[in-house]
Amino acid sequence: MPSLAPRIETVPASGIRRVFEQAARMQSDEADRGTEGHIAMLVIGEPDVPVAAHIGEAARRAWTEDRTDYTPNGGIAPLRAAIREKLHRENRIEADLEQIWMTIGATQALFQAMTLVLSPGDEVLVPDPGYTTFTMNAHIIGATPVPYRLEPQHGFEPDLQALEASITERTRVLVVNSPSNPLGSVFGEQTLRDLLALAKRHDLWVISDEVYEYFTYGTRHVSLASLDEDDRVFTAFSLSKTYAMTGVRVGYLVTPKGLGATMRTTQEAMISCVAEPDQWAALAAIVGDHSAVQEAREHYRANLDVAKEVLDAAGIRYLDPRGAFYLWIDMSHVTEGDVAEWALAFLQRERVAVAPGSAFGRTGEGWIRVCLAATAADLRRGLGALPAPERVAV
Ligand SMILES: Cc1ncc(COP(=O)(O)O)c(C=O)c1O
Repeated sequence: MPSLAPRIETVPASGIRRVFEQAARMQSDEADRGTEGHIAMLVIGEPDVPVAAHIGEAARRAWTEDRTDYTPNGGIAPLRAAIREKLHRENRIEADLEQIWMTIGATQALFQAMTLVLSPGDEVLVPDPGYTTFTMNAHIIGATPVPYRLEPQHGFEPDLQALEASITERTRVLVVNSPSNPLGSVFGEQTLRDLLALAKRHDLWVISDEVYEYFTYGTRHVSLASLDEDDRVFTAFSLSKTYAMTGVRVGYLVTPKGLGATMRTTQEAMISCVAEPDQWAALAAIVGDHSAVQEAREHYRANLDVAKEVLDAAGIRYLDPRGAFYLWIDMSHVTEGDVAEWALAFLQRERVAVAPGSAFGRTGEGWIRVCLAATAADLRRGLGALPAPERVAV
């Protein structure tokens, strides 16, 4: 067999998948033996609420009516128009239709944006801890991810001085993710303005991942592109989390102005277009009743209260999240410098699957990420099984 492109070997494997697959193996082994028990799955970022009926109906109708053709590369006209209106209303982004591109989830939006602006050897600033795909994409393109740290001593905000000091003449892009996966933190407007000013000083592109825009608690989500004055921000949005339709795979990329022709060409080569029935489902989601989104937000918030109660009672340290549906929990008192191994052992021992923080970057060593999109019972049991600091000390 011929060799693969060397840069492909450098793409790091997902540390979340390891735990997930181990849990799946435990379940299938037990099913074979007829001894299947319950595992509290707090590891994957997957909404646990059903998709709203009107969204599924729109998809089914599209299939029934044979709306199964290629569409324009950017997406069907009514969908792009509905998104333009949503961007104006919800995000305060004034975009024309040529800036809006339907993608296969935010995943493709992120990859697409990165391929437009990065060349092999370029550097891209990524949050640490941060969503794993940012780093993986950079490696696939042959670019170098340069982590910027989000740490407790800085309130999990970027240390702007350190961030600026890490910029070199090869730096081309700053990736921002708010609300954050895995932290659940939400950057305030001033932080976003500071990041944008820094990008401007160094003439960087900005890629803003806003897939959790609808899930904030007691704070407002601000879209970076609404503050952008000189066309340097790409924004990746998604329907996956908002409407609990992760497997349908619809998102969209909002580009800076003037990239319509480039997007048409690259989109044509990459995916041609998003599946047509999925686009009709997306349209129904965006223009339809949002009470399911509201209910999901309340469900995550209620789960957060349950989780905080359990952790507070045990004296376990965590970041009180303002967005997304994750809890970032300090387990450094038991992980002995290897939270990835600890998470596997914890799964085996307690039947609770959590994501090791190290899967999201070096700064995550000693921390775990717990997904709040779960049942309250699983959260109580799963978090109740976490060793408390004082119990370890004796
Ligand atoms: C921060 C972040 N960005 C992007 C994605 C990908 O979402 P999509 O399903 O839209 O591809 C995820 C999914 O977990 C995420 O957490």
